Amino acid sequence: MSMMDNKILVTFTVNGRQVEVLTAPNRTLLEVLREDLGLIGTKQGCDDSNCGVCTVIVDKKAVKSCCMLIGQAEGTNVTTIEGLEGENGLHPLQQAFIDHFAIQCGFCTPAMILSAKHFWMKSKCDEDEIREALHGNICRCTGYKKIIEAIEAARDEMNAQA
Ligand code: FES
Ligand code: FES
Repeated sequence: MSMMDNKILVTFTVNGRQVEVLTAPNRTLLEVLREDLGLIGTKQGCDDSNCGVCTVIVDKKAVKSCCMLIGQAEGTNVTTIEGLEGENGLHPLQQAFIDHFAIQCGFCTPAMILSAKHFWMKSKCDEDEIREALHGNICRCTGYKKIIEAIEAARDEMNAQA
């Protein structure tokens, strides 16, 4: 990371692509993702670590990007919802959210999926564990039942393929 004219040059990887951003140091990862890189799948809600809609994966951890200064992203590997689709199409979690009507207004959905995916790396997960994984993600539509069902269905599909 270098500094020029009161700005910092930050280099990191987003969805497999290396990016360089010259920016004021007081901006957050969330602001840079949305405003500089056009990755508006990451949503902005409370801006205060309460709602979870800004969640992205940073170096295999689910992180609330509204609380991460852009300088802290130097050298990291960031995954946003735009990076989840693979060569074979949507990630099974994305498809399951569609199939199980778990997308209501949709505002919380990208972060819900990323929190579930991050959790998935560590466990096969039962319902209680899924609820625990999503504890930092608020759905304003309050429809957690469909969301849990979708994650369970994707879990079952992925276990069947393993
Ligand atoms: Fe980051 Fe609400 S916008 S937690
Ligand atoms: Fe509306 Fe969750 S689907 S906020």
